[in-house]
Amino acid sequence: MEPTKRDSFASSFGVLVALAGSAVGLGNLWRFPYLVGQNGGAAFILIYLGFVFLVGLPVLLAEFIIGRRSQASARKAFHKLAPGSWWGITGVLGVICCILIISFYSVVGGWSTEYLYKALCFDFTAGDPQALRTMFDTFSASVWRQLVCHTIFLALTAGVVVAGVQNGIEKFSKVMMPMLFLIIIGIAVRSMTLPGSGPGISYLFKPDWSKVTSQTFLAALGQAFFSLSLGSCMVMTYASYVKKDAHILALGTQTAISDVLFAILAGCAIMPAVFAFGISPGEGPDLVFVTLPHIFSQLPMGGVVAIFFFVALLLAALTSGISILEVIVAFCMEEFKMKRKVAVALTFLLIWVLGCLCIVSSKVFSLFEFLSAECLMLIGGLLVVLFAGWKLGRKGVFEELTNGGDIRLSPRMFEILLFLIRFVAPVALLAIAVFQIHE
Ligand code: PHE
Repeated sequence: MEPTKRDSFASSFGVLVALAGSAVGLGNLWRFPYLVGQNGGAAFILIYLGFVFLVGLPVLLAEFIIGRRSQASARKAFHKLAPGSWWGITGVLGVICCILIISFYSVVGGWSTEYLYKALCFDFTAGDPQALRTMFDTFSASVWRQLVCHTIFLALTAGVVVAGVQNGIEKFSKVMMPMLFLIIIGIAVRSMTLPGSGPGISYLFKPDWSKVTSQTFLAALGQAFFSLSLGSCMVMTYASYVKKDAHILALGTQTAISDVLFAILAGCAIMPAVFAFGISPGEGPDLVFVTLPHIFSQLPMGGVVAIFFFVALLLAALTSGISILEVIVAFCMEEFKMKRKVAVALTFLLIWVLGCLCIVSSKVFSLFEFLSAECLMLIGGLLVVLFAGWKLGRKGVFEELTNGGDIRLSPRMFEILLFLIRFVAPVALLAIAVFQIHE
């Protein structure tokens, strides 16, 4: 018997904004633009799009199917659907993956809190690129400042999660996600209408295949997984709060499209300005915290644009942070019969400590990032498609995608989706794993 009634989302729109809120995050605003910059622009974007729809979407649907069918948290979901089997390990790996992600994610989320504060103080007006680099270096060398910011970010995240799925996550995402899209559209328009933005726009939309290497494929698949929050049992956990009459295929596709759209909008907000100010697009992870403040300092009304940009960055990070925290909290609540408040408090403590380790040691930071984004998410993704495609099988997948026959789905479309889940996604993930081990 369940100790308390399970929480659930109130509406399909609520599910969509919560899922899109999880997907749209630092991955889109911080990671995507610099990966595009380092991997040759449009060619990278096209490969990324291919991976999103051929590998990412099947994994997303598989997680959705498992979560909604079981109505249980990460490990229990497998336990319910395949009692007595070892599949539960997939859920445990997912929870470990989320613990690792949120630990470093909260640190970067903390950086966006600090940079929003700096933007509000109009600190970027100095305009000297060297001064802005020193500003970031001084900040990232200060353990105390980062600690305060990490604590603020984590507390904000925990504050939403403690309010529950419907009253916290759903309500928060419903207001914040539309705002986030509006802000990024506004900044993209500003950036694309700058004199000299033309080369930046063609960089984003005209592929240069000569820059593509095997590394480009690896980076694109990794980014597709990170950005869609896959292989971490996140989609599964949110899906477990989704009602039985929701349209899984529509929700999954809309989530993937919103995420891709937002990533491209982020590219449009950043790259044209980068080119207009004659900066190299391959700046790397500092792009958002060093290069952009430099651009804001040169831009007419740049101070205001900076405020909007860092509000967007913080919101995007928060809606993703809450989804990661929810996986851990739901796990604690259902495995150890904890009350939500207790589960949130314990998770907060654990992540706070691990985040502190990421702050004091960049090695720990990179290790957590590597283990989660490049190992556990891909392993999780592989296990999830294998489970849905082969263990639940044709019948289970069909029942979930059509809500037991209530939703019409053409037989051809179903065969294509099943083929993607059973063969294309697992083979692509295995190929990437073999390739990575070889490197
Ligand atoms: N998708 C989020 C982003 O793009 C990160 C994330 C990963 C969120 C895994 C949840 C789970 O920033």
